[in-house]
Amino acid sequence: MTLRLGDIAPDFSQESSEGPIHFHEWAGDSWIVLFSHPADFTPVCTTELGYTAKLKDEFAKRNVKALAVSVDPLESHHKWISDINETQNTRVNFPILADADKTVATLYDMIHPNSLANATVRTVFVIDPTKKIRLTLTYPASTGRNFNEILRVIDSLQLTDHHKVATPANWQDGDDVVIVPSLQDEAEIAQRFPKGYNAVRPYLRLTPQPNK
Ligand code: BEZ
Repeated sequence: MTLRLGDIAPDFSQESSEGPIHFHEWAGDSWIVLFSHPADFTPVCTTELGYTAKLKDEFAKRNVKALAVSVDPLESHHKWISDINETQNTRVNFPILADADKTVATLYDMIHPNSLANATVRTVFVIDPTKKIRLTLTYPASTGRNFNEILRVIDSLQLTDHHKVATPANWQDGDDVVIVPSLQDEAEIAQRFPKGYNAVRPYLRLTPQPNK
């Protein structure tokens, strides 16, 4: 099934390294980073899961839960977690779904016929507390993902959900933002952005990040 931005993330029940997970119930009111990797005991995946574990505090600050998935069985995940902890100097602190029957891989279209046979590609789904899909990413097997970029997008989504702004190229939390083109009422602009704005063009209006 092709999943698109704004779709409701499909619900599922599956085994995980931290016990059975009923996805929507488990997600609760959190944002979710659901990410698949091709296989346990592979080098790039080992670094990715280790790095994700180290981002625990960053995820917590943003009300985000991480959930990894591959089609490896539970026993393999448990052995691999020990390896990740040892080699990456961390403790895996999020569940890894053991999707041996491909329930999740099928629902989220994570096995691509022209990529690795029978293995989930590197996908990322960012899902908001209403269960809407807000970001999708697909990476090649040979390229580890940039998890700081995933945090950056979550920062942008959480900001732009509450203020009439969008975030420009390479924006980082604290940088200037752009006022959405649909906002034209100067009284509302003055009230929302008391520090003013710089209109480089009528359609390109930069303002200090409003929640700082
Ligand atoms: C890795 O995680 O290192 C990897 C997995 C599949 C193919 C190539 C690399």
